[in-house]
Amino acid sequence: MADHVLPSTAPVEWSLLPATAATGAEGELTIGGVAVQALTQEFGTPLFIYDEAHLRARCREAVEAFGPEVAYASKAFLCTAMAKLAHEEGMRIDVSTAGELHVALAAGVPGSRLVLHGNNKSVEELTMALDAGVGRIIIDSTDEIDRLEALAAERKVTISVWIRITPGVHAHTHAFISTGQEDSKFGFSVNSGAAQAAVVRLNGSSQLDLVGIHAHLGSQVFDLDNFAEAAKVVGEFFAPLGLHELCLGGGLGEAYVNGEYTQSLAKWAQATRSALRAVGVSPDVEVSAEPGRSIVARAGVTAYTVGTIKDLPELRTYVSVDGGMSDNPRPVLYGSGYETLLARSPKADRPRTIRLVGKHCESGDVLVTEGSVPDDLAIGDVLVTPVTGAYGYSMASNYNKVPRPAVVFVANGKARLVVRREQLSDLLTLDVG
Ligand code: LLP
Repeated sequence: MADHVLPSTAPVEWSLLPATAATGAEGELTIGGVAVQALTQEFGTPLFIYDEAHLRARCREAVEAFGPEVAYASKAFLCTAMAKLAHEEGMRIDVSTAGELHVALAAGVPGSRLVLHGNNKSVEELTMALDAGVGRIIIDSTDEIDRLEALAAERKVTISVWIRITPGVHAHTHAFISTGQEDSKFGFSVNSGAAQAAVVRLNGSSQLDLVGIHAHLGSQVFDLDNFAEAAKVVGEFFAPLGLHELCLGGGLGEAYVNGEYTQSLAKWAQATRSALRAVGVSPDVEVSAEPGRSIVARAGVTAYTVGTIKDLPELRTYVSVDGGMSDNPRPVLYGSGYETLLARSPKADRPRTIRLVGKHCESGDVLVTEGSVPDDLAIGDVLVTPVTGAYGYSMASNYNKVPRPAVVFVANGKARLVVRREQLSDLLTLDVG
């Protein structure tokens, strides 16, 4: 994962903020025409704030780059408002559990616009997908072929499926989110012959109709050559099969800290397509993808309130906020880096080096290991971590019984609450004594 070693004391690069981020009359941060401090007063902190215009623009870019079969990988961030938005902007939705499927359906997304993933789909999940008329089921194992064939036979239907293959390519990313390599719980290996055997089996199946191939290399991958390399292996496998649908997963890396730079969705699509052409994949094949992070990461920020500032002479300064690893576990899980800025002065220099920590009962509860803040940082300030729109809220927990934050969408000077803040009473809803 990209992590910065030396903290940047310059202001946070504006390109890390959501597209409509601007400064108000007093120099304060606004998003979607609304002052972040006004949002935190109304909705409290910690607060996830999404720029709706940014989200919509990214969805449109994805559709333009890959066509109307491109899917939004909802694991990055899902609520009904998000599913609706991606659907309205012309994307399919990739769901990988009954829970994600349930939320996408509750948002009114038609089953035909959903694709179902998962390396251990249960009979219940597969049944739910068949009931909903899910557009494509991506088969991940021979056990799943057995399960799905039985279900299709029972219902006397034919089901259109893809199989997920592992190209045996190492992505340059954190091991936990690298999935295209040989040693993986996902998919069928090309090199071992398992992928070919699955194709043969499906070709002989009267219940399952193999219409496409899927592969996903990993997540937070910056180098387009990595994608091209995977596309080459997948393309060589795919071309002789005479199929019409090919999906190359998600994974485009996102810039999180000053000095990082990411590629456009268009360039990613281009690199993938030309690698596929080079190995003989016909231009008529419908090539799609499943971006998650690159749709939502930069569109979202998290706003916290500073609660304590502890100076340890000769050591460091700990700045504690009212959230932490329960709303953003990425620094703890992957060592991911983030920037911090003050909502009241987002363009201020940040000469003071601090460690930004949460309120959980463990030392590992770090949001930014070496963070930079302005000299006048004070208790009660609203501190913002940008690029937290992906895999933040979606991986949030109730650790230490900390209620999960609220989520708001902002656009054209207005905010709408899309997920309410968890209340203490919610913490007892599952507790049956
Ligand atoms: N398609 C499949 C089959 C996937 O497994 C994933 C992500 C995606 C698409 C979307 O990938 P994206 O475009 O978002 O990189 N929690 C980790 C990321 C895990 C990604 C899992 N699969 C993180 O916070 O970095």
